[in-house]
Amino acid sequence: MIGVLVSGRGTNLQALLDAGLPIVAVASNRRDAPALRRVPEEATAVFELADYTDRNARDAAMAAWLKSRGVELVVLAGYMHVLTAAFLDRFPEAVVNVHPSLLPDFPGMHAVEEQLAAGISESGATVHIVDEGVDSGHVLAQERVPVLPNDTPSTLHERIQDVEHRLLPKVVAELCAR
Ligand code: GAR
Repeated sequence: MIGVLVSGRGTNLQALLDAGLPIVAVASNRRDAPALRRVPEEATAVFELADYTDRNARDAAMAAWLKSRGVELVVLAGYMHVLTAAFLDRFPEAVVNVHPSLLPDFPGMHAVEEQLAAGISESGATVHIVDEGVDSGHVLAQERVPVLPNDTPSTLHERIQDVEHRLLPKVVAELCAR
């Protein structure tokens, strides 16, 4: 059973839902994340940092909620906070993330803009196991896309997301089948 963490639009969550994967819980660090509206409200929960004493307390509560829903595999689909050991220790080697670059190049929140600013000719999408670092951890799958001369952040991100929406459900399905 899968739990998904989101912070934004949730197009990757939608790709997982469309693939028919067994998603039983969706959590967010933002009450206003549009992604939350893609699943029935009773399958969602919000864990805003401001409601807890610190990150550890928030992450422990979020992990406990996911466990209570029977989650065994956690997918970060545009989740924009680094997870602490309080979370990761509850799901050893069972948290995966999708990121819009060919990691280890261009980790972080502004990967698309930074790749354009760097003038590289090739970008891509990466799915990887999550550790306590920023977009670090063992790479499970990567696929390349070209960076075109007239690309803006939104045209490049859209090309990368087309890949993410295929690659993430494929890798998650493979992990579920293990
Ligand atoms: C995705 O492109 C994902 O790769 C990126 O956020 C976007 C979320 O889109 N994640 C990161 O940058 C993680 N460092 P979505 O909400 O439409 O799925």
